[in-house]
Amino acid sequence: MYIDKDRIDDFLTTTRFGREMEVHDWLPSTNDRLLSLIKTKEDISEGYLIISHEQKVGRGRQGRIWHSPSGGVYLSLLLKLNLPQDKWNSLHLIGMLAVYDTILDLYNLNPTIKWPNDLLIKGEKISGILLETRSVEGFNNFGVLGIGINANIAREEFPDEVSGTATSLLIRLGEMVDMNELIGVVLNNLEVYYNELIKNTLDVRGELEERRTIIGRRAEIMSGEEVIVGRVMGFGENGSVIIEVEGGSRREIIEGNLRLMD
Ligand code: BTN
Repeated sequence: MYIDKDRIDDFLTTTRFGREMEVHDWLPSTNDRLLSLIKTKEDISEGYLIISHEQKVGRGRQGRIWHSPSGGVYLSLLLKLNLPQDKWNSLHLIGMLAVYDTILDLYNLNPTIKWPNDLLIKGEKISGILLETRSVEGFNNFGVLGIGINANIAREEFPDEVSGTATSLLIRLGEMVDMNELIGVVLNNLEVYYNELIKNTLDVRGELEERRTIIGRRAEIMSGEEVIVGRVMGFGENGSVIIEVEGGSRREIIEGNLRLMD
């Protein structure tokens, strides 16, 4: 099932997101393509979208690889960051909310939000979000919101390194999904959350806590040189996670890698 600009358009109800887009057969990375466009395309508008059927060197957080065979959704969306800097961290969270709602509404699958940037189904990763920010002299600050969704990927198409930890919509549903609809609805949801975020009317923490998350689970977090073990109690303002450590005290962690222990 091929990704097609006009077919995506049929599903869009947005005013900005995805109204200008490029669809590529393959790219090294959609985030890299958008990051380089920011430097050269002066009139680039908010919501500019890059999509690729495959990525040769798809990137995840902290220098990890995002395996990107054909059949997945790989997209990057341009945001102009007219937001206080402490809100930037919320952007990958609204990405997760948008993908979560789409997967639930279109396919009746209930993912789990795993801090800081993954969606899991039955413990296996179905989507990941990568937000990269840049300041370009004389312009705004830009955010490139990269979203990967394992859509129509069969189990044997995942490389060995991730075959036990990744899943896809195809694996869970037993049938292919319409990737144009999937992309269109993600963008629609994302624009609604983004508009609320800039109007300051979105309670990101409340939205997260209303959904299925890792709250209550035991976890180990590597944050810089430190390893923190405890129970996830909730989320803080602007993208942090709250952990109750042994002895009952609570820690708020802004950045790190989390491993579930139960
Ligand atoms: C992660 O889980 O570590 C984040 C994965 C983000 C992957 C997406 S796919 C589209 C965009 N382009 C990239 O190179 N990475 C992001």
